[in-house]
Amino acid sequence: MMKPNQPKTTGSAETPPTPEEERLMTTLRARTWEEFSGQEHVKRTLRIAISAAKKRGEALEHILFYGPPGLGKTTLAHIIGREMGVNVRVTSGPAIERPGDLASILTNLEANDILFIDEIHRLSKIVEETLYPAMEDYALDIVIGKGPAARTLRLDLPPFTIVGATTRIGLLSSPMRDRFGVINRLSFYDPEDLGIIIGNAAEKLKITIGGKAKAELAKRSRGTPRIALRLLKRVRDVAQVEGDGDITEDVLARALSLMEVDEAGLDTSDRRLLLFLIDKFNGGPVGIETLASALSEDTGTVEEVLEPYLMQIGFLKRTPRGRIATPESYKHLGKRVPEPTGQESLISQ
Ligand SMILES: Nc1ncnc2c1ncn2[C@@H]1O[C@H](COP(=O)(O)OP(=O)(O)O)[C@@H](O)[C@H]1O
Ligand SMILES: [Mg+2]
Repeated sequence: MMKPNQPKTTGSAETPPTPEEERLMTTLRARTWEEFSGQEHVKRTLRIAISAAKKRGEALEHILFYGPPGLGKTTLAHIIGREMGVNVRVTSGPAIERPGDLASILTNLEANDILFIDEIHRLSKIVEETLYPAMEDYALDIVIGKGPAARTLRLDLPPFTIVGATTRIGLLSSPMRDRFGVINRLSFYDPEDLGIIIGNAAEKLKITIGGKAKAELAKRSRGTPRIALRLLKRVRDVAQVEGDGDITEDVLARALSLMEVDEAGLDTSDRRLLLFLIDKFNGGPVGIETLASALSEDTGTVEEVLEPYLMQIGFLKRTPRGRIATPESYKHLGKRVPEPTGQESLISQ
């Protein structure tokens, strides 16, 4: 659903992927540790957990991934399945509507299988509570019948592993969080790792891209593999229509300006947030609720999807009194940095 005042953006991280893009992402999905660049700490943690589980001949402990969209959560779930040599069944929080749905998924798993639950923060309370004993004891308590005749039936399950993914860790209840043995935060990728990811994808798609163009694209991808791949594909389209098909620096620059991706890799939603802060709120501090409502976004999306990258590159700061746009963001947007009025410190005293 489109929200009011929300411009249609081209490359932003929170735009839901189209079916065509999903197909592309699946084609390009890293299938092995070798193909999965970066996130060294996460990889090491997972490899240890996997080889320990294999040695014991047990199901892997439950694993949670959190972080902004497009950083590799779904990809990792599949790599883990492959490494464990088990099936990965994919579902999502909103797809499991009733405890019965969960029961039918879980009872159909084979021993040590993985159930990947995307958007796990969106599980309903009642489904979540059904999941707890399942995760702890591999058992389901099912209530049969209604009223005085109701009774609980305990169903034994094969051992299994939940791999959960969320962009909104703040919305996950703490009993849910506590049931994961491994919790991994995915962080933004540095340009070197993104360059490798772009190079591999270009090879798979038989795209020729020069070293400089590759480095530039990596820099403009908002630290996010999904965006790098999305941009690569769109840049290729421009290269084929306007050039000879090869991605040169010149083609890249034209394509990026067409897509309104700027030098810092910011897209229209990023710039819109900063411009609101600067133009409507004098650069802040402004509370998250006010900012989110000005953007017609919910606070969680602003906090966990839009802001992390802006903070990472030093354009936005969270202070106890609200968000502020840094002088770097003023400069980036071609705005004059305001003189300090001294008022900020007066207010805080
Ligand atoms: N570290 C990585 N190395 C190579 N490709 C990656 C990496 N992380 C993500 N990708 C690619 O980026 C795309 C989006 O990743 P995905 O796992 O769907 O992200 P998420 O589930 O976190 O939104 C996929 O095509 C995936 O293969
Ligand atoms: Mg995903």
